[in-house]
Amino acid sequence: MAVLQGRLVDRLEASGALTPGWRQAFLDVGRHLFLPDVVWASTSDGYERCDRTENPGRWLELAYSDVAIVTQWEDDADGGQREPTSSVSMPTMVASMLRDLDVHEGHTVWEGGTGPGWNAALLARRQGADAVVTVELDREVAAQAEANLRALDDAPTAVVGDAADGYPPRAPYDRGILTCSVREVPAAVIGQIRPQGVLVLPFAPLFGGGAVARLTAAGRTAEGPFTGSSAFMRMRQQRYQGPPVDDYLPGDWPGDAAQEYTTLSPLDVVDDWLASFVVGLAVPDAYYRRSDGDGMTTLWLFDTGVTSWATVDFVNGAERYEVRQSGPRRIWSEVEDIVRWWEKQGRPGFDRFGLTVDTDGGHRAWLDEPANPLPSVRG
Ligand SMILES: C[S@@+](CC[C@H](N)C(=O)[O-])C[C@H]1O[C@@H](n2cnc3c(N)ncnc32)[C@H](O)[C@@H]1O
Repeated sequence: MAVLQGRLVDRLEASGALTPGWRQAFLDVGRHLFLPDVVWASTSDGYERCDRTENPGRWLELAYSDVAIVTQWEDDADGGQREPTSSVSMPTMVASMLRDLDVHEGHTVWEGGTGPGWNAALLARRQGADAVVTVELDREVAAQAEANLRALDDAPTAVVGDAADGYPPRAPYDRGILTCSVREVPAAVIGQIRPQGVLVLPFAPLFGGGAVARLTAAGRTAEGPFTGSSAFMRMRQQRYQGPPVDDYLPGDWPGDAAQEYTTLSPLDVVDDWLASFVVGLAVPDAYYRRSDGDGMTTLWLFDTGVTSWATVDFVNGAERYEVRQSGPRRIWSEVEDIVRWWEKQGRPGFDRFGLTVDTDGGHRAWLDEPANPLPSVRG
């Protein structure tokens, strides 16, 4: 175990994700202590299920691999697995978010999204148990985390509750870290970080993509850059399904939508994590569904206000793609305009974008500096 753990820690340090100040905590707090017997490791081909009782060697290897490990699934109506709902996060992600958090001795820390408790245990190991409070919504997950954390010398305060409320009894905090993604930064959390304090969170717009935001609080606002790509499970109440297509288009397709064409491949947008992110920052209420066929894909685009829809047909090898748009908004045109703008800027990466949020729910995304907001593309 110690060999596997040491190897992982060395690799995290060599990559720059793990800063020297976190090394000892990563060596002291075993990741395997937070895993149940049956786990699903996230791989490039899907999920690898592993049962400790059947294959203890592989189970331990996965515990010290740089992969996220799913520990809870939401079941669908037939008892099948629908969506992962809790996990022990990927070590690179945990280390780099803790690096971004920039804790100093004596800092108090609030965490939203305890999961099985590994990140909270790392924080408590470094900051001291009394300095850390962590909040988990799911009772079953919280009970498991509580048991995992209780077994440690430095057990932080673990609370069952909604991370969107922060945790007022111990506020304000010097540092805040969310480990489930949001498309709207909860106002209560912003207000509970001390001025000049830091809030680190995975921001994932509805349209797609995601990146870690490192916001500096200033009373009723918080502002700062994105530091790099991320993919986290969403804060449960911010998941969005959208109404059926009939609510947008009561009759047969294409309704009143005229035929248009675009030279921008819709797959170059939705299959690109960064491009999707930029679209999501600029058009926060747009979302899509896709249906894939043999060499072709239809992308349906919608707004959450249920006013407008668009379709774009991708065909393999085509030079232009058919577009239909209906409603007061031209959703595809909005998407295309922001992608063209982004291309004109030289396709800036995640770390050139930033976000300003306020306790009234305002969200403003910018490029390079707050004075340079993303252009408005809403027609
Ligand atoms: C990726 S896991 C957290 C990983 C964890 N912090 C670790 O140590 O690796 C995300 C967790 O956020 C929790 N969550 C989702 N929505 C929440 C909410 N509104 N309030 C608190 N927890 C929430 C989920 O139940 C899940 O356990």
